[in-house]
Amino acid sequence: MWRKTQVFGFAAFVWLIVLFVGLEVPAQTSGTLESGQQFDASQAFGPGDVKEGYESADYQTQSRSLLSRRGLKQDLIQIVENPPLGLPAVAFPADNPITRAKIDLGRLLFFDRRLSINNTVSCANCHIPEQGFTNNEISTAVGVEGRLVIRNAPTLYNVAYLQHIFLDGREISLENQVWQPITARNEMAAPSIGYVINKIKRISDYDGLFEAAFDGRSADIATVGYALASYQRTLLSADSPFDRWYFGRNEDAVNESVKRGFAVFAGKGQCSVCHQINEDYALFIDHQFHNTGLGYAVSTGKKDAQIKKSTRVQLAPGVFVDMPNETIQSVSRVESFNDLGLYRVTENPADRWKFRTQTLRNVALTAPYMHNGQFATLREVIDFYDQGGIPNELLSPFIRPLGLTESEKIDLERFLESLTGQNVPQIVADAFAAQIGELSKDDPNWAHQNTLGF
Ligand code: HEC
Ligand code: HEC
Repeated sequence: MWRKTQVFGFAAFVWLIVLFVGLEVPAQTSGTLESGQQFDASQAFGPGDVKEGYESADYQTQSRSLLSRRGLKQDLIQIVENPPLGLPAVAFPADNPITRAKIDLGRLLFFDRRLSINNTVSCANCHIPEQGFTNNEISTAVGVEGRLVIRNAPTLYNVAYLQHIFLDGREISLENQVWQPITARNEMAAPSIGYVINKIKRISDYDGLFEAAFDGRSADIATVGYALASYQRTLLSADSPFDRWYFGRNEDAVNESVKRGFAVFAGKGQCSVCHQINEDYALFIDHQFHNTGLGYAVSTGKKDAQIKKSTRVQLAPGVFVDMPNETIQSVSRVESFNDLGLYRVTENPADRWKFRTQTLRNVALTAPYMHNGQFATLREVIDFYDQGGIPNELLSPFIRPLGLTESEKIDLERFLESLTGQNVPQIVADAFAAQIGELSKDDPNWAHQNTLGF
């Protein structure tokens, strides 16, 4: 039991770091603003926990207080109305056309910790903008008071195109999706939808905003979803080096290794069977669910021994050890979750351990990988596919040993790294300019004054 507590404590500790300090700078550091003006992201990313060079023994911290961090608000509607190179047009639901007022309101809600029961966790705590709208620090998400979530937080880039929401596809729209994390006991833990609506109505930051965005209609079960969905739809990221080469026909946009890696991706590796590329755009998804064996392996306790033998762990700048996975497991969470994936929605035995294909856009920014954050690096994912996943009676017929050579694996990794959108700094700068909803003396929940009306 002590082990469980220890790991739980560690997860909570990491979560606190994420809350207060831990924000990593993505590889991409410059971009072009909508105005055509060059944008130097170092201005916006500056402070935070800068880990660049941490692998070297000479590492010297450049971390600075988040308080001096600056952002730059962007006109996000321009992005969603003119998607970057490599993405198709966005379809808006008939009942929720996009407007600037809704995007701004959605942004305010997205960064508001007060939507959670104890005013600590916002959407952005798990979908961290400068970490590809995911969380690089932990394999599976952690909610209020350190409560464990069974899955890895996926990126929110390009969720506008998803036909099935969540990795088991259980939700049908971004509008509906929002209530799940808000009310999940282990995420934001609001006791009910009504509780949240009541709270929002009493927070003065929202005075008049819903009414202005929704034709006089105030915060309710639909408008909260409309607003959050509108903000999330604008998080489009493409125009990557790959897009400039493949769709933009600029031969110099990527190097030869990336081009060879693409050939492996679309050829010998068979990756594009599921991570699809269309004629004039690429989402790298097929909107389908597949069994790679990962869920099966975890559920049957075969886990790490079969998946990978050891993990390279960094203890300090320049200090690494190859830790046997058995040792890591001995201090890990005790229970092994049987995450049945699509089966949880359909209850069809043939759907056990099937998960929705995840996008590969911006994948260099969104580690760790897969539904349970099993793999820390892209190389580990590539090795997993190369060995043919984990054999089981429901394994996808498209997952089989690939026999990739070392240089093919390196090229494939370079290709995946070429999928980082050039506009990432722009979207992150916008997020950094967002107002963070924190508990204040004016709030209904201040010092438990119980003015929420309950
Ligand atoms: C405690 C961490 C946490 C918080 C807080 C959180 N999420 Fe998530 N989010 C996750 C995890 C984990 C998943 C994957 C869950 C699954 O597939 O079952 C997810 C999935 C999603 C998805 C689906 C993505 C996909 O690829 O299908 C969207 C959209 C999303 N979250 C938006 C939000 C919004 C909006 C909020 C705030 C209202 C929010 N999340 C709050 C952890 C979190
Ligand atoms: C049979 C369909 C299929 C094939 C073939 C396939 N994938 Fe996947 N891929 C998936 C599914 C499904 C997931 C999500 C798995 C999960 O969440 O457990 C995924 C996830 C990934 C991820 C993790 C994304 C993230 O953000 O967590 C990467 C990287 C990836 N695949 C790369 C590849 C590469 C490279 C190849 C070719 C060697 C490949 N895939 C072949 C279906 C496939």
